[in-house]
Amino acid sequence: MSDAPLLVERLPDRVVATLDRPSKHNAIDQATIDCLHELCAELEAQPRTLILTGAGGTFAAGADIAQLCDRRAEDALRGINATAFVRVGELPMPVIAAIDGYALGGGAELAYAADIRIGSTTLRIGNPETGLGILAAAGATWRLPEIVGHARAAELLLTGRVVHADEAAAIGLVSSVHPAADLLAAAHAIADRIATNDPLATQYTKRALRAPRERHPAIDGELQAELFERPEKQRLMTAFLEKRAER
Ligand code: COA
Repeated sequence: MSDAPLLVERLPDRVVATLDRPSKHNAIDQATIDCLHELCAELEAQPRTLILTGAGGTFAAGADIAQLCDRRAEDALRGINATAFVRVGELPMPVIAAIDGYALGGGAELAYAADIRIGSTTLRIGNPETGLGILAAAGATWRLPEIVGHARAAELLLTGRVVHADEAAAIGLVSSVHPAADLLAAAHAIADRIATNDPLATQYTKRALRAPRERHPAIDGELQAELFERPEKQRLMTAFLEKRAER
């Protein structure tokens, strides 16, 4: 049995990474962050869809409070979790978070870094950091407003209120809700759908989606210009046209 806090299953077109510290509700410690960096290096070199999930009926109940307790100003300035989550968010292919049970504090922020979030019926997601005398500094203050809008994000972050599955779906924090037993299959179904499309077109769509407002529409044109020059675009469009002509 491995005692690594992140289990990684490699498939040809996707990787499933499972947060696995069940005795600590998968709290994200330095070893987990180190594993996430290793995984990102692998996926930057060989882009594949990433499914992020948690073992034992929990996504992650936060950054590891035992480690946070000893951290000082210089640690905050290093942005230990923030840097890793930015790297996860910037992976070339889509990241899908399959969130079962608790996704609190840093666990929620890791989920916010994903491109697509789905939840189980037992989902409990939120940022109780202010109750611990800190702020949610690993992405919540800028990613949550992008996901649910500024007013909702302000209400959630300033109260520390934890949201259940139905509300999370209603405000768009997760795209769908599934029985826990079906959650991973639902994530795989999304990855299957992604795998039917052209990988580079998917990567460029993600890049355009993540670009700042002032880069549009120039960046869309630049990325499209590259795609227009690829034989793959010609092949896919010709195949479409020929199939229609045969009807
Ligand atoms: N960091 C470190 N350890 C954590 C943790 C965290 N964020 N969340 C849970 N754990 C540990 C507990 O200390 C406990 O360890 P122990 O058995 O060695 O004492 C173990 O995980 C199980 O947690 P427990 O609180 O007994 O489970 P529960 O089912 O009663 O409650 C939670 C679950 C998630 C509600 C509760 O653990 C909790 O509130 N965790 C902290 C959530 C939080 O504030 N996160 C934000 C951090 S920035």
